[in-house]
Amino acid sequence: MHLYIHWPFCRAKCPYCDFNSHVREKIDYQTWLAAYLNSLDDYDYLLKKKEIKTIFFGGGTPSLMEPFIPETIISHLYKKYKIAANVEITLEANPTSVETSKMKDFKRAGINRISLGVQSFNQDELSFLGREHSGDEAIAAIKMISSIFDSYSFDLIYALPNQDVEAWKQSLKFALPFIRDHVSMYQLTIEKGTKFYSKYQRGEFVLPNEEVASDMYNITAELLAQKKLEQYEVSNYAAIGRESQHNLAYWEYKDYLGIGPGAHSRIEGYEVMMTHAPEKWLETKVQLKKKLSDEDKFKEFLLMGLRLKKGIEIKRANELFNNRFLEKLSQKKLNYFLEEGLVTIDEYLKISPYYMVVANSIIEGLID
Ligand SMILES: C[S@@+](CC[C@H](N)C(=O)[O-])C[C@H]1O[C@@H](n2cnc3c(N)ncnc32)[C@H](O)[C@@H]1O
Ligand code: SF4
Repeated sequence: MHLYIHWPFCRAKCPYCDFNSHVREKIDYQTWLAAYLNSLDDYDYLLKKKEIKTIFFGGGTPSLMEPFIPETIISHLYKKYKIAANVEITLEANPTSVETSKMKDFKRAGINRISLGVQSFNQDELSFLGREHSGDEAIAAIKMISSIFDSYSFDLIYALPNQDVEAWKQSLKFALPFIRDHVSMYQLTIEKGTKFYSKYQRGEFVLPNEEVASDMYNITAELLAQKKLEQYEVSNYAAIGRESQHNLAYWEYKDYLGIGPGAHSRIEGYEVMMTHAPEKWLETKVQLKKKLSDEDKFKEFLLMGLRLKKGIEIKRANELFNNRFLEKLSQKKLNYFLEEGLVTIDEYLKISPYYMVVANSIIEGLID
C-alpha cells in the first residue's frame, strides 16, 4: 500500500503552479490533524489489508505544517497498521529558513526523505518564478537537509523565458555538487488558470522553442550521467536503487490511497477523488468514487508506465489486461513507431531514450 497525504497550503501562490494549493492567513492545525486522522479511519478496512510501503506528504507546502501533524499521523499508522521495515516517508519542502529550521523535528516525526522545491539558484529566475526564497537560502536548505537526512532530492525548472541551452548547462553545472542521489528536472509548462497562462496569452513572455527545449532535455541526461545519475523517468534522475519508491508506485500503476483536499486514489479498480476546496474537504471528504472501466485502466496504465525509462513489463501488462495488452494498442501506430525506432519491445515495451522528450505524443498515438 502506498499512502499520499495532501497539505493544501502555501505562503504564496507561484504564478506557474496549478497544484491544489491555497494561501490562508490562519490555519487551525488541530482541526486539520483531526480531519486527516478521521479520513484515514474511513480507510481502516483497506490499510489493514496490506503493509504500508511508502508515505508521501505532498502539497502545497507540507513543510509549513507544524511537525506534530506528520508526527501524530505517522505514529497513528504505526500503532494500527503494518509498516514496511524499509518504509520511505517523504515530505515536500520549500527552502525558506523558517521551514528549514523544522527539519530535525520532521526527522524525529519519522520522515526519512525530503523533496525540496529549489526551482533555480539564479535570482532573476527565482523572481520570475515568484519564489519566496533566494538562491543562497536554497543552498543553505540543501546543506542543512543533507546533514540531517540520508535521502533527499530537489526540483529545478528549465526552459524558462530567455534561457538558452548554454545558460541551462551552467545552471546544471552549478547544481551538480548539491545533488546526492536523486533530482527532478521539470520543463516549465504553462498551465490553464495560472497567472503565467494569462501573461503568456498576452505575449508578455516567450518560451524557448521545441528544438531548444529538447536540447536542454538531452544535455540534462548527459550531464547527470557523469554523476552516475540515471534518468529513470521523463523528469527524474537517480543513482541505481535510489529512485523515489512512492512515485514509482504511480508509474508502475500500483494501488495507492490519497488523503486530503483534491487527493485521488486508485484502489481495487476504483478511482476516488477527494473534495478540492480545503474548507469543504473538512466537511465532505469524498467527492467522487467511480469504478474504472477497462479502457480507463488501459489509458492510465500506458500514460504512467511509458514515462519510465524501463517501460512497461509485458508480463504484468498481460496479467492486468487478459493477455491482450499488445493487441489493445493501435497496431498501425505501434508498427510505425517500431519501424522508426521510437519504441522497442522485448520483455518490456519502452520508448527509445532519444524520443522520451515526446513521450506524451507517442503514448497518445498508441492509445488511438
Ligand atoms: C507541488 S510542487 C511542491 C513543492 C513545493 N511546494 C515547492 O514549490 O517547492 C512540486 C514541483 O512541481 C514543479 N512544478 C509545479 N508547477 C510546474 C510547472 N508549471 N512547470 C514545471 N514544473 C512545475 C516544481 O518544480 C515543484 O517543485
Ligand atoms: S509551486 Fe509549490 S509553493 Fe508554489 S504554489 Fe505550487 S505548491 Fe505552492
